Amino acid sequence: MSFSPLSRSARGGLALSLVCATAAVFGGCRGGVSEDPPLHLVPDMDNQAHKRAQSMSPVFADGRAARRPVEHTVARGHLRTDTARFEGKDESGQLIPRIPFDVTEATLSRGEERYNIFCAPCHDKMGSGLGAVPRRLEGTADQSAFSGIPSLTLGRLADAYDGELFQTITHGKGRMPGYAAQVPADDRWAIIAWVRVLQDLGGRKPKPGTQAPEATAAAPAGGASATAAPTATPATKTPASPGGGSQ
Ligand code: HEC
Repeated sequence: MSFSPLSRSARGGLALSLVCATAAVFGGCRGGVSEDPPLHLVPDMDNQAHKRAQSMSPVFADGRAARRPVEHTVARGHLRTDTARFEGKDESGQLIPRIPFDVTEATLSRGEERYNIFCAPCHDKMGSGLGAVPRRLEGTADQSAFSGIPSLTLGRLADAYDGELFQTITHGKGRMPGYAAQVPADDRWAIIAWVRVLQDLGGRKPKPGTQAPEATAAAPAGGASATAAPTATPATKTPASPGGGSQ
């Protein structure tokens, strides 16, 4: 006669599973350091042999664990056949005169924001070339590094094709570094649209055939006026006296 509602064999089973569970819990503590998880009943492919970045591997002749991408392969999403958009050149290698997509107000405000972050430190918000960097370096031993930055409203630059400005921003020019690593291609175009606005404000109408952002920017609003300036921002910035502001 048993008091327990459980049969003898059921009790035995319960005891055994308790023992197993305890063993499994404490089995995790092996008293040493291991990179393996202490308890992983169904590992599937979670833990595989792998190499850490920059480590060595005897498997490959050059001893490097990291492999170069196979030649002529392109990572998904990185195919850049659009030469106009990514190089500022057409298929025959000629610089393109205009930004290869429609410039909207959103493009301009993006361009203004990016310009103020990436270009204004040297070129100044209005493009005078007297940004904080050259002004701070004035009178120091490093003065020549960024002195004499050309005004972006120079006729020569107002006449330059958008493709040429794109090349300058992408690869740099003379003492100016390239910004391809920090500024994605579409943002570089947006910056160029903003530079055109600055040139316009500086009294340099971009040459016919090159970018005239206000025309396309005004289009969605339905305005046909040639002076329909993109947003009101430029007007509020115009009074900035040269060399006066802290930016
Ligand atoms: C670190 C300072 C610095 C920054 C930031 C900088 N530039 Fe420049 N930029 C220069 C200097 C210096 C020159 C003059 C290069 C030379 O002739 O040696 C220059 C020249 C230029 C020119 C004239 C090139 C020519 O054909 O003579 C353009 C256009 C220009 N920059 C655009 C930009 C734009 C757009 C950005 C932002 C993406 C930018 N720069 C950011 C320093 C800078």
